[in-house]
Amino acid sequence: MLADPSQACLLHFDDETDAAMRLGLAAQLPVKLIDRHRFPDGELKLRLPVDGAGRLPPHVVVVRSLHDPNEKLVELLLVARAARTLGARHVTLVAPYMAYMRQDMAFTPGEVVSQQVVGGFLAGLVDAVVTVDPHLHRVATLQEAIAVPDAIVLSGAEPLADLIAQRRPGALLVGPDGESAQWIAQAAARHGFDHAVCTKVRHGDRDVTVQLPAVDAAGRAVVLLDDMASTGRTLAQAARLLGAAGAASVDVAVTHALFAGDALQAMHDAGVGEVWSTDCIPHASNAVAMAAPLAQALRSLLPA
Ligand code: R5P
Repeated sequence: MLADPSQACLLHFDDETDAAMRLGLAAQLPVKLIDRHRFPDGELKLRLPVDGAGRLPPHVVVVRSLHDPNEKLVELLLVARAARTLGARHVTLVAPYMAYMRQDMAFTPGEVVSQQVVGGFLAGLVDAVVTVDPHLHRVATLQEAIAVPDAIVLSGAEPLADLIAQRRPGALLVGPDGESAQWIAQAAARHGFDHAVCTKVRHGDRDVTVQLPAVDAAGRAVVLLDDMASTGRTLAQAARLLGAAGAASVDVAVTHALFAGDALQAMHDAGVGEVWSTDCIPHASNAVAMAAPLAQALRSLLPA
């Protein structure tokens, strides 16, 4: 049954209408559009969907996947602060992709630790965060990065594993770097896939060296699994090596289809066949829907 619109609603922007509708349906939440106007100088004017009395319900959920994050962070600042003044007592951010989680330490003196800054910023705006496979490496929990009372982490690894089991039964799962070990372990545990993890050294944005693990890939259907692909160079390097090692096929499964610039082309040029992703970031490769688990997480945060 649809939640009482006087108690809870889900707010979204016009570029995420489809995702918001799917989530609203799964979570049984009334879905409402935030009206956005851009002034000629680039500033934003937002209008929140208030009721006849000019108020929002006490529980407000904002869905905003934070790929291309910079302007969206300003939108969230404006929405969350205004929502409080309009009656929201509890604000949840559903960000299927959470930005700025990779920069989790200063690699050179003076380098900004973006995870801490953005995490602190979001924690000052919302009461709860729901996200999928945030890139937590040197930090153990999302709550350490974003100190909100409720920080819920879902994973695309298991639903992607289900897809892989259908499309490539008996696949050899390979993680392209040490950080992918957590997702490889989850996916392998679910279907008993053989699995292994590469090592990677990053030299620059598009320059990585990958080393294959000691595993016999000859004749195997290999699926490279990771939380995200950005430039695609990590997966391309791994695919090239696996091809040279005799893999029968190399396909890719990622939670977050960032795919910057020529990422897809670079992967295909390196011998990647199929590319599958979750719908955390809208992309033609989306093959796994996350609305149901996101809705289940929301149900634990909202009044029954
Ligand atoms: C970092 O370790 C992530 O899991 C990905 O491996 C990384 O972001 C991929 O970057 P790119 O696609 O630019 O090589």
